[in-house]
Formats: sequence, C-alpha cells, structure tokens
Amino acid sequence: MTAQRVGAVVLAAGKGTRFKSDRAKVLHQACGRSVLRWVLEALWPVGLSRVAVVVGHQGDDVAAEAAAAGLTGLVTVTQRDQLGTGHAARVALDSGALDGCDTVVVASGDLPLLTPGSLQALLDEHAAADRAATLLTARLDDASGYGRVVRGDDGQVTRVVEDRDAEPATRAIDEVNAGVYAFARQSLAAQLAQLSADTAQGEQYLTDVIEPLVDKGVGAVVGDAAVLQGVNDRAQLADAASTLRARLLRALMRDGVTVIDPAATYVDAGVTVAADATLQPGTLLEGATHVGAGADIGPHSHLTDTVVAEGASVHSSRCHGADIGPHVSVGPHSFLRPGARLAAHAEVGSFCEVKASDIGEGAKVAHLSYVGDATIGAQANVGAATVTVNYDGFAKHRTEIGPRARVGSDTMLVAPVRVGADAYTGAGSVITHDVPDGALAVERNEQATKPGYAERKRARAQRREGG
Ligand code: UD1
Ligand code: CA
Repeated sequence: MTAQRVGAVVLAAGKGTRFKSDRAKVLHQACGRSVLRWVLEALWPVGLSRVAVVVGHQGDDVAAEAAAAGLTGLVTVTQRDQLGTGHAARVALDSGALDGCDTVVVASGDLPLLTPGSLQALLDEHAAADRAATLLTARLDDASGYGRVVRGDDGQVTRVVEDRDAEPATRAIDEVNAGVYAFARQSLAAQLAQLSADTAQGEQYLTDVIEPLVDKGVGAVVGDAAVLQGVNDRAQLADAASTLRARLLRALMRDGVTVIDPAATYVDAGVTVAADATLQPGTLLEGATHVGAGADIGPHSHLTDTVVAEGASVHSSRCHGADIGPHVSVGPHSFLRPGARLAAHAEVGSFCEVKASDIGEGAKVAHLSYVGDATIGAQANVGAATVTVNYDGFAKHRTEIGPRARVGSDTMLVAPVRVGADAYTGAGSVITHDVPDGALAVERNEQATKPGYAERKRARAQRREGG
C-alpha cells in the first residue's frame, strides 16, 4: 500500500454571531492561545502534508493568526461570503491547495479541545475501512444545537440532520456530529459540487454530503464528548478553557510540579515549570514564563513573560518581563516590571516596584521602594522607602548603587547619580551628587529639639479655653 497523503481543511470564516463580539470567534483566547491555534496544534501532529484554513470574517487577522502557528504547508483560502460549511469546504478544494491529497480531514475551527489522539483514531478507522467518509461523533446529554447522526436499522450512518432542520424524533437522538470528518478527496469534491442551499438557514451544509456518499461507504468513530465540545458562545469558551487548563496542569503534575489547588491555578499553554516547583493557589502564569526547579510561586502571584530560576520564591506579587535569579525572594505585594533582573539570592520585599534595573547578587530592597533604571551592586542594602528619582519630566536617567553600599531609609536618589561601593547615605537624604566609594552623604537640616514643648502647648490651650 502506498502512503496516503493527508491534507486538512479548517473552517474559520464565520463570524461567530453567538459570541456577540467585534472579534472573530476563532481569535478568542483560551489559556493563552486562540481557539484557531488550539485546533491547528491538535491537527498538525497526525502528519498532514497540507492545511488549508478557510478565512472570511476578519480574514486578514485570522490568516495572520494561522500563519503565526508556523506550520509548513499551511495556506489560507478566502471565502468571500459565508454561505455555509459546505460552501467553505468547496472553496478550499477549488483553490487547488489540497490537490494531491488522497484523504482530506475537514474540521471546524471552533473545536479547541480536539486532540491529536482523537484525530488519529478517525484517520485510522477511515483508512482501515476504505470509505468515502468517516465522521467523528459523540454522545451528549444535551445535544441541542448540534447536527444529529442518524443511523439505519443495521447501525450504519445514513445521514446528518441539523438541529434546526430536525423533526422531534430526530432531535431526540443523542449522537451528534462533532464537525470533524475524514473524506476521500475526490468523493468529497464531487458531492460538494452538487450542494444546494435549500436548508432552514439558506446555507450549504457540509453535512448534506453524507447521505449521498452512503453507497460509497460512510462510517463513524464515537469519540470522547469532552474532546468534541464546540465553542459557540463565551460560556462554552470558558468551559473549554477550564478543560484545557485542567489538561495543562495535569501534565505539569505528572512532570513533578506540585499544584496545591488546580481549580485555583491558571497556567497558559507554552509556560514551562520544572520538577519540584510549587504553584500555590491564586497563581497565574502567562506568556513565555518559565519557573525553575524547587521554586515556590504564590499564593496570589501573576507572572507574565517572566523567568524564575531554581529555588526562588514569588509571593503575592505581579511580575511582567522580569528575570528572577536562583534563590531570590520576591514579595509579598511587589511589582516587577519589564527589565527587572534580580541576581542570585537577591531580595525584593513588600510594596516595592522595580523596572529596568539590575539588582546584584544578595542585594536587598526590602520595603516600600521604587527602583527604576538602576544598577544595584552585590550585597548592597537599600533602606525602606528609597526612591530612584529617574524621570525629570523629559527623560529617564540612571542610578548606580555600588556593591555593599548602604542606602538609608527614605533616600531620594535624584538621577543621574551614583552611590559608590561601600558608601552610605543618611536616612531622609535627597542625593543629587555622586557619593564616592566608602563615603557617607547626608543631606538634611540639623535637628532642632525643643524640651518641654508638649507641656507649654497644653498650657496655652487651657488658657484659651478658660479665657
Ligand atoms: C456544525 C455542523 C453540525 C455539528 C457542529 C459541531 C454544519 C452544517 N453543521 O454546526 O452538524 O454538530 O458543527 O460543532 O456543518 N464556517 C465557515 N464558513 C461558513 C460557515 C461556517 O468557515 O460559511 C465555519 C465557522 O467559522 C465555524 C465552522 O465553520 O468555525 C462551523 O460553523 P458553525 O456555524 O459553528 O456550525 P455549527 O452550527 O456549530
Ligand atoms: Ca460550531
């Protein structure tokens, strides 16, 4: 037997009216990926030579999202008017993109829960029986909205009837068409050419090719309902996201990550977490985030595009574009912004904000400070409520704090300014000039102390009341 060439058509031209959104349905996100991207990622591993994504509504954006998946052999085909799923499939075949494929998988672009395993089962069954068409179906407790799979007395599939066109008896069928099919390409092309739009919606239904193909062999694979759930509105999108999230967390737990409460932990696709890390409740990990071995994240930490090295901890903090070194401690209640880089064993404690700054090995910024556009040397200590005054209203300026320097509490460091190695600043100082290595800079008035002040004040008040 010669190897079959398998291509796929992904139907993604519809608006998704039930989303009530300005954005095309397939561009909505679940766990950090668009619905379309989830479908493409599920299809690709089965070994496709071509994928044609049919775009229409917001076609340029959907085409760009498809291209972003970076799959070789992916093309987009435009369906100018959305005349139905059958018409969409026909536009794809007529484009010639799938010429040379023996088998064509057609899948709705709104099935983010599809898995490579479910598609492989469909393809295996299709190839083994040498049929014209094989459907993926599921049995649902609530089948409303789906096409029903009608079987004859012998159990063979005879046709698919859309919900809106179904008689009550057909509506009672609980086996639904999942919207994923394997077809012999030539049989599909021949039937699509015959489709009419004589349906409840005035659309050309892809499902109407099934009945005329029965003579050439139509079969079905009953799949897992959870995999075949479509997203037609935002409530279904949220349900799908929750299933995807559970899968992602399960995979992490199997790889050795402790997840204290999976129902309260949010990890996007593409995030990586090493073994023996712990994700506490209320943790959100997004984008290109990586968490190293043994790190402890949360409770209540939200990390985007952030790298956390081994043994670090991030408690109740927001980090975006930060690079957190080994055994660093962050939080509770701090905000690391893009370009915050913390070297090994550094500490950023509570109520601090750090942006575009390097904090050296073992350095401490423990309480209530703002560090922006700064370099802090190893083992330096930045006292509570220190502020790098980095912005003069026109440009940002840098602050440099040398190794082992001791910046007193409530120091204003008016940049550009440098505090030397081993130098000190006095608490409450406004530092506008560089402080040499090993020096102390104090900028504040002499303290005036007035003994007996409280006594005199009370006496004055009593005199006023008596008079
Ligand atoms: C479709 C099936 C239904 C099945 C269900 C499974 C048909 C007629 N019905 O119904 O049997 O149970 O999927 O989820 O196929 N699209 C286009 N161009 C169009 C119309 C639609 O590209 O002209 C795309 C949509 O963007 C969507 C997909 O096709 O991604 C399916 O369309 P949708 O309207 O969601 O079909 P359902 O009503 O869910
Ligand atoms: Ca649908």
